[in-house]
Amino acid sequence: MKHLLQCIGCSKEFKPTQIYTCPECGDLLQIIYDYASLGRQLRESLNTPGPLSVWRYHRILPVSIKNAVSIGEGGTGLSKSSRLIQRVDTTEVYFKNDGQNPTGSFKDRGMTVAITRAVEIGAKRVLCASTGNTSASMAAYAAKAGLRAVVLIPKGKIAMGKLLQAVVHGAKIIQVDGNFDKALERARGMASRRRGLYLVNSLNPYRIEGQKTLAFEVWEQLGRRVPDVVFVPVGNAGNISAIWKGFQELRQLRLTREVPRMIGVQASGAAPLADAYAKGLEEVVQWPNPETVASAIRIGAPVSWKKALRAVRQSKGAIIKASDEEITTAQRLLANHEGIFAEPASAASVAGLLKAKRLHLIKTYETIVCVITGHGLKDQKAAANFVSL
Ligand code: F0G
Repeated sequence: MKHLLQCIGCSKEFKPTQIYTCPECGDLLQIIYDYASLGRQLRESLNTPGPLSVWRYHRILPVSIKNAVSIGEGGTGLSKSSRLIQRVDTTEVYFKNDGQNPTGSFKDRGMTVAITRAVEIGAKRVLCASTGNTSASMAAYAAKAGLRAVVLIPKGKIAMGKLLQAVVHGAKIIQVDGNFDKALERARGMASRRRGLYLVNSLNPYRIEGQKTLAFEVWEQLGRRVPDVVFVPVGNAGNISAIWKGFQELRQLRLTREVPRMIGVQASGAAPLADAYAKGLEEVVQWPNPETVASAIRIGAPVSWKKALRAVRQSKGAIIKASDEEITTAQRLLANHEGIFAEPASAASVAGLLKAKRLHLIKTYETIVCVITGHGLKDQKAAANFVSL
């Protein structure tokens, strides 16, 4: 679909070339469309029955469906809580289970679009830094498209299941001494020097476009209604920004009048955004040594911090913290009460819900969606710690 890149800082607009940040001021970019012209076609396609998937919304995606590199992403379940809800005393709680994606995490929603874009611009190699899931997803989609994949991971700090996925799909693995933030800095440096190397971390706005489809799916699954509150685990802060963009577009297209409050959840040991939010800061102060059992969100310098702060402030939501103990308890409750095996980072949304109840951030009549971002089988070590085998 025809689109432009717009800087989120200085608002300048650019033709879609291979840039990741604003050439004028260096801020992140977002993709914009001529919403008035695509509204009718999009509404028509939404009235056509068909299975949910990322590509159901291709009329509001920045790549052509004809080129889609797809292995069946999106269309994940929205399961209604029957037992865990008793602990929060609210009308409806749902789990949007993005662990059901092809490589077991929500990353596939964004990756199908980013790799399609890589093919459209003629890139031969794709690159990312990752705490595990992005690399697993990129490796799979690169394999499907016949592109070479290069992955930078923090040495010894990602779950074995995710590393294995990247290796099995044929990615070249570079282990970086230091944490994810250092790996991302290196990846950005490599991508800026070599044009044939396409960076698909979530600072890439094409990734965000794929991930926003979760909002469209939830709206359809609730019978064309948006929830009151959405809980999202936050690491590099791309996903909460993406989901908020989806809900805002639904409003822009006049498919909803309401939008939900976005509540981001960080692990207490890796919570620069929650801190900035609590202190009312305009900018995020990076944490040099983030630490948490939820290795997927062990991030001290979230690249999409500005988009995420805007999402929670505009939606009148919040960013809160959950301790490792609260995250592990939520992981156990999800598994034991709802039949959903989530990795620790994914359970952070549920830990956030339980906490939000104690902090009086939710009301009894509200409809709530917790986004479950990745499958528990990816990080077996973390799960083995809370059960006796
Ligand atoms: N949940 C899971 C399972 C994740 O893998 C991630 C991020 C997040 C939540 C947070 O999403 O970064 O958009 O705020 N994982 C990235 C990776 C960083 O490399 O796989 P975010």
